[in-house]
Amino acid sequence: MKGEILKMLSRAEGYTSGEHISEQLGISRTGVWKHIQSLREEGYTIVSVRKKGYRLEHSGTGFSAHAVSSKLRTEGIHIEHHEKIPSTQTRAQRLAQGGARGWTVVTADEQTGGRGRRGRPWSTKKGTALAASIILRLDKLPQEAAAITPTAAVIINDVLQRYGVDTRIKWPNDILAEGRKVCGILTEMHAEMDELHYLIIGIGVNVNETDFPEEIKPTAVSLRHLTGQEWDRSALLAALLDELKKRLPEFEENGFTPFREDWLRYSTVINKEITIHQRHQSWKGRAVDIREDGRLIVETETGQKEVISGDISI
Ligand code: BTN
Repeated sequence: MKGEILKMLSRAEGYTSGEHISEQLGISRTGVWKHIQSLREEGYTIVSVRKKGYRLEHSGTGFSAHAVSSKLRTEGIHIEHHEKIPSTQTRAQRLAQGGARGWTVVTADEQTGGRGRRGRPWSTKKGTALAASIILRLDKLPQEAAAITPTAAVIINDVLQRYGVDTRIKWPNDILAEGRKVCGILTEMHAEMDELHYLIIGIGVNVNETDFPEEIKPTAVSLRHLTGQEWDRSALLAALLDELKKRLPEFEENGFTPFREDWLRYSTVINKEITIHQRHQSWKGRAVDIREDGRLIVETETGQKEVISGDISI
């Protein structure tokens, strides 16, 4: 219902009366008011004027819940946007623990404690990057869910390629362009041995950065660097969410299989001599394949090994 109200307000030129909303949606005026209050709590600025009704204020940053929602083509995605937050991933965890439904998406214009893989920090500078965490409640077993990371990588890679950026996937979860990282994916799961409660896919894209912190300068790149243009983060996020919403049911039904061929085609590591860096050791081999569960198959002098986690250098 809130989504419907939002749509009516965003399509209106000026004010929309409470009476009109209540008639159109078949709910009471008090019901309209309660939904408006709840939208305000989520960060939407809705002005109300007696005898005129409600009007949605557009956010100045260009990246807001409204900006993303109004560009989505798919139903059922709910955006909670923050101007500044420690981490969208941590906020999404909290919402999921409190029972938030699948396809609740937390976004932020700035993260002060963004998290990357293996406890690393992730920088999200105000007004430039795309940071989003998607809560998913999938009908999958915990051991089947791990392959969502390469699946999401294929889908995100497809969207970026559609925008004309020549991106590739680096196992396990980086999207590279010109050999540098343009997007990172952090998948976290809450499960018991035999039951998946929820998954959170965190997506960080370097969009309009013109500079990076010293320590990632040599390895990071932004879409703006790559294309010479300023990007609309809300349009990009809407495109990513639409594509994920459209194609993840296929993962839910058939796992990674329908995405595997594309992954192999997009991969930067397949048929390359690589070094795998794990917590206590580093070792060399030739990456030859990816398993249906997302494990990388590496040929070594002593035979084939399956890699579940680690970092790769080529
Ligand atoms: C990585 O490459 O290490 C993964 C980076 C994932 C970063 C995203 S940004 C949105 C979400 N919130 C976080 O704190 N992390 C993820």
